[in-house]
Amino acid sequence: MTTRLVVAAVSKAYPGRRRRDQPVQACQDVSFTIEPGEPVALVGQSGSGKSTLARMITAMERPDSGSISFGDVRVDRLRRRQLRGYRSQVQMIFQDPYAALNPLHTVRYALTRPLINHLHLSERAARPRVDELLDTVGLTPVEQFAAKLPHQLSGGQRQRVVIARALAPRPALLVADEPVSMLDVSLRAGVLELLAELRRSTGISLLYITHDLLGARVVSDRLLVLHHGRIVEHGPTIEVLRNPQDDYTRALLDALPTPFAAAPGAGR
Ligand SMILES: Nc1ncnc2c1ncn2[C@@H]1O[C@H](COP(=O)(O)OP(=O)(O)OP(=O)(O)O)[C@@H](O)[C@H]1O
Ligand SMILES: [Mg+2]
Repeated sequence: MTTRLVVAAVSKAYPGRRRRDQPVQACQDVSFTIEPGEPVALVGQSGSGKSTLARMITAMERPDSGSISFGDVRVDRLRRRQLRGYRSQVQMIFQDPYAALNPLHTVRYALTRPLINHLHLSERAARPRVDELLDTVGLTPVEQFAAKLPHQLSGGQRQRVVIARALAPRPALLVADEPVSMLDVSLRAGVLELLAELRRSTGISLLYITHDLLGARVVSDRLLVLHHGRIVEHGPTIEVLRNPQDDYTRALLDALPTPFAAAPGAGR
C-alpha cells in the first residue's frame, strides 16, 4: 500500500439558502497530503467544512477548483464507471452506524457484499474472510455476531461492523467522519483504540475527522485544524496540542477540561 493523497488548493462553495444570499464558502484553498500509512486528524468546529472535504476526497462531490489526487488517480475527475474501483481503495465511515447498516441484513450479509462486489470472492470464499474481519474488530465469538441483525447490537458494536465492512475491500485509505460522536461516551475510547490499532496493524492511511482534540490525540500523528473552511494550523498532533500557534486552536484547547488543556508555556 503505497498511495499518497494530495489535496491541492481545493475550494468548494454552496449556493445560499435563498437566491439573494451569498454562497457559503465551505472550503477555501485547502492543501495537505497524507502519506501512505499515515494517521491524520482533521479538527474543526461544526460548519468548518470537514464533511465537505471528506465528500470530495471520497468522490461524492467535486471541488469547484483545485485538485485531489490519490496515487495517480485524479479523484476530482473520476468518471462514474471508475468510482467502484476508487471506492475499493478509499472507504468512508460515517457518524451514524445505524443509518449505515440495512436493518434487514445480518452482519454476515453486510460483510459478505463488499467481498463479492470489490474483491470478486465467491460467497463460500468470503466466509472465512468475514470471520477474520469480525475477529479483527473485536466482535467475538464471530459465529454469534455474524448471525445478528443491526438492532441486536449496541451502538459500539454496530460501529465495529461498519469499520469491518469498510476494511473488507482492503482499502489503502480510510476516511472516518466523526465515527464515535454518536456513541455513548463509555464506548468511544474502545472504538478509537480499535481504529488506532487497525491503522498500525494494516498500514492503512487514516483521515480521522472530529471536533474532539482528545480523540485526535489517540488516533493521529498529525493534525490539521480547519476554521471557516481554511486550514489555520497543522503539525504533529502532540506539538500542536502542546503549543498551538493559532488563536482558534488555542480556543479549541481551552474548551477542554484542565488536565488536557495546554498550560502556559507547556512543551516549550
Ligand atoms: N449540500 C450543501 N448545501 C448547502 N450548504 C452546505 C451543504 N453541505 C454543507 N454546506 C454548508 O457548508 C459549510 C460546511 O459544512 P460541513 O458539513 O462541511 O461542516 P462540518 O465541519 O462537517 O460540520 P459538522 O461538525 O457539523 O459536521 C456549512 O456552512 C454548511 O452549512
Ligand atoms: Mg460534518
